[in-house]
Amino acid sequence: MLVALLPGDGIGPEVIVEAVRVLEALDIHGLIFEEAPIGGAAYKEYGHPLPDKTLDLAKRADAILFGAVGDPDCDALERHLRPEQAILGVRKELQLFANLRPANLFPELADASALRPEIARDIDVMIVRELTGDVYFGEKGMRTTDDGLRQGYDIMAYDEAEIARIARAGFETAQARRCKLCSVDKANVLETSQLWRDVMVEVSADYPDVELRHMYVDNAAMQLVRDPGQFDTIVTGNLFGDILSDLASMCAGSIGMLPSASLDAGGKGLYEPVHGSAPDIAGEGKANPLATILSAAMMLRYSLDMSQPADRIEQAVAKALADGLRTADLGGSATTRQAGDAVIAALAH
Ligand code: IPM
Ligand code: MG
Repeated sequence: MLVALLPGDGIGPEVIVEAVRVLEALDIHGLIFEEAPIGGAAYKEYGHPLPDKTLDLAKRADAILFGAVGDPDCDALERHLRPEQAILGVRKELQLFANLRPANLFPELADASALRPEIARDIDVMIVRELTGDVYFGEKGMRTTDDGLRQGYDIMAYDEAEIARIARAGFETAQARRCKLCSVDKANVLETSQLWRDVMVEVSADYPDVELRHMYVDNAAMQLVRDPGQFDTIVTGNLFGDILSDLASMCAGSIGMLPSASLDAGGKGLYEPVHGSAPDIAGEGKANPLATILSAAMMLRYSLDMSQPADRIEQAVAKALADGLRTADLGGSATTRQAGDAVIAALAH
């Protein structure tokens, strides 16, 4: 089993190192790692954020463990050379259309949530975000209006096949949970969303055991803060999912805790923390590696068919937190390395 390691920028390399240490501590037979540069790091070395050899490794690998991309030094580059284009390129090239972003609260972290503990306690939601379409990948550009004003534009579009495919991922995810699916859109304003809603209803006929409801994205943002416990599985488009998953992460304690999986139709996947490259704390050893460690657990479960070691990692993270592990984002002072050590020590129990 070949695992591609794409550490990327900022805190990416620091958190990937800890996840690899945890995987190695499990001593899984036949797991091989190969690393390649991506993002600003790759631009600086090869003049492109997604060099051919990196894309090639991503395609060859059985699964991909990804850190983060984003580097302020690169913000002034033309868009196609910016670090963010690398992750968008991998998602598109590998057709990783289904992004699973769970947000649940480890009980020990109830006081780290931005919400009152009695509200935060109930959060256990899986956001299924479409990842290869929407305004992210539509025609975009800069033009000049008839009045001579600069105008930026990005076209939002989904065709029915793209919607049906993520709808199925949403229904199947809900079936493996509590059979409640909330589809989030903006059908009161957007045609894209009207089609989204229509297709959701059509596909729902194949999943009679799942209860489907619809919610506008503005209301969904409010409801996630007001009463997150009402949600089981949320399915939504690329842009709304980007925003709601950051929001859900703060409800669940810290964005430093949340893993994600990006899957293709065959179960191959890229696994990455929901957080970004955090350039302000890069290299300081302060980053929380738990989101990446939990992403490695998702990788074992979803792409490598190893649910037992996946469970062990998740239990070890819970034990480390129960034993008092707190990195800076959780109000503590543990370093990235100490956090990795604490999880490895907990694995032994
Ligand atoms: C995410 C990130 C990316 C996105 C950026 C880095 C392009 O915010 O994975 O949520 O917008 O999808
Ligand atoms: Mg995001």
